[in-house]
Amino acid sequence: MNAENSCVVIFGASGDLTFRKLIPALYNLYKIGKLGEHFSVLGVARSELSDESFRQKMRDALVKFEKASGPKLDEFCEHLYYQAINTSSVVDYAKLLPRLDELHDRYQTGGNTLYYLSTPPSLYGTIPECLAAHGLTTEEFGWKRIIVEKPFGYDIETAKKLDVQIHKCFEEHQIYRIDHYLGKETVQNLLVLRFSNGLFEPLWNRNFIDYVEITGAESIGVEDRGGYYDDSGAMRDMFQNHLLQVLAMVAMEPPAIINANSMRDEVAKVLHCLHPLSEEDVKNDVILGQYARGLVDGEEVVGYLEEKGVPADSNTETFMAVKCEIDNWRWAGVPFYVRTGKRLPTRVTEIVIHFKTTPHPVFSQNAPENKLIIRVQPDEGISMRFGLKKPGAGFEAKEVSMDFRYSDLSSTSSLLTAYERLLLDALKGDATLFARTDAVHACWRFVQPILDYKANRGRVYEYESGTWGPTEADKLIAKHGRVWRKPSGMMKKKV
Ligand code: NDP
Ligand code: BG6
Repeated sequence: MNAENSCVVIFGASGDLTFRKLIPALYNLYKIGKLGEHFSVLGVARSELSDESFRQKMRDALVKFEKASGPKLDEFCEHLYYQAINTSSVVDYAKLLPRLDELHDRYQTGGNTLYYLSTPPSLYGTIPECLAAHGLTTEEFGWKRIIVEKPFGYDIETAKKLDVQIHKCFEEHQIYRIDHYLGKETVQNLLVLRFSNGLFEPLWNRNFIDYVEITGAESIGVEDRGGYYDDSGAMRDMFQNHLLQVLAMVAMEPPAIINANSMRDEVAKVLHCLHPLSEEDVKNDVILGQYARGLVDGEEVVGYLEEKGVPADSNTETFMAVKCEIDNWRWAGVPFYVRTGKRLPTRVTEIVIHFKTTPHPVFSQNAPENKLIIRVQPDEGISMRFGLKKPGAGFEAKEVSMDFRYSDLSSTSSLLTAYERLLLDALKGDATLFARTDAVHACWRFVQPILDYKANRGRVYEYESGTWGPTEADKLIAKHGRVWRKPSGMMKKKV
């Protein structure tokens, strides 16, 4: 299904996300015919740009990031417009009315409007209020939807406040809280793997699973986002949203059907079952770290405190490892170890399901455990590890693997990137892959004790860049007799 005819209004259109992700995603949708001729984009920000200079800026980005060229690029750019306003001043929003009227007329988009908030989060409450003050949120003339970028709030209280502010102007069905991890093909595949195969479901519970690891590792540092990152840390930047959403996909119950309500009911249900962390749990089961100088990919890199925009005495974590538990029948007693960090040895997101060992070791004390490794990125794929007899005398078992790689599918060229998929879904009115308010609140509620610990300058361990985080993170899992997998390029196609 293609996008519905509409005008996409991007607030924060002179910013980084717009030219690096949003415009490229819209361009690619246009190129493959998912976005017809009946669409326009109105960029909005404070910078004084003309339609022409905005187009030129976006064209340059498309050439740089998408290697775009040719008539499709020209045609796409003709659909781009720009309006400068003071985003904090309600009066200024009057300037949007004639622009939108004209665009809806010209492209016959029937008033359908998708607002995209890509500004500093402090404006996420203000912009809806200003739009509503000018009647720009009512659905008498076409639908109105709003995509809200992360972070959705700064903690549970601010998330609730933001919800109240936005709900004054938009109803829940109009609100699309974006988490780009949910747009990743491999994250969605978790649902298909789990719920379309009879093989896994009987094993997917506390009776057969020993523990689950979720790793979101990055080799990059904070780059030029030091100012933003220092307020967020790994907790707000990756854990509270992306990784808890992935955890929910691993742990949720099967939805009755795949639609926005059914899916999001199950996601919210499992997030509500996260075992609340007491102060003692935070001390025992949460490890925070901050990168120091080191070697990544053979190159010397600076420590976090030397990064631009980071205060010299910052206590912000760039790494965290947490033992989570889920209080329900399926998962009681099964720990979910989740870790994420910057300046780790490699970029990898993966989920490892560790199955219990056999009840009695018939052949060897050291028979390999069975694991299912789900590689979200890069080298996307799935690997099943199990033991087989080592050739030769005796009955020693060795670990072997059965691997599936996404790159082996002939149709991977038509995969949509996360932003393409999510923008297309919002333009079709499908909120299945967007976070619902109750799920967002459940995530904030779970992390609040860690936020409190951070606020009291809780212990943050230093780790050398290019390592897998502080050694305390290894101890966190080793004290339960387990080890983190050290992911490598094992999914790479063999040549
Ligand atoms: P930038 O700082 O690059 O851009 C912010 C945009 O907001 C600019 O266009 C700025 O333009 C505009 N703006 C409007 N009003 C204000 C104001 N009062 N103060 C400052 N800027 C204002 O941010 P990003 O594009 O990187 O990010 C946008 C949002 O998306 C953020 O909330 C971020 O957390 C989120 N995000 C970003 C990601 C990324 O990869 N960049 C990834 C995931 C989320 P002008 O000054 O012309 O008004
Ligand atoms: C963003 C974070 O939301 O996700 C970044 O703000 C992080 O700090 C990025 O690098 C990771 O996304 P991906 O898709 O590269 O894993």
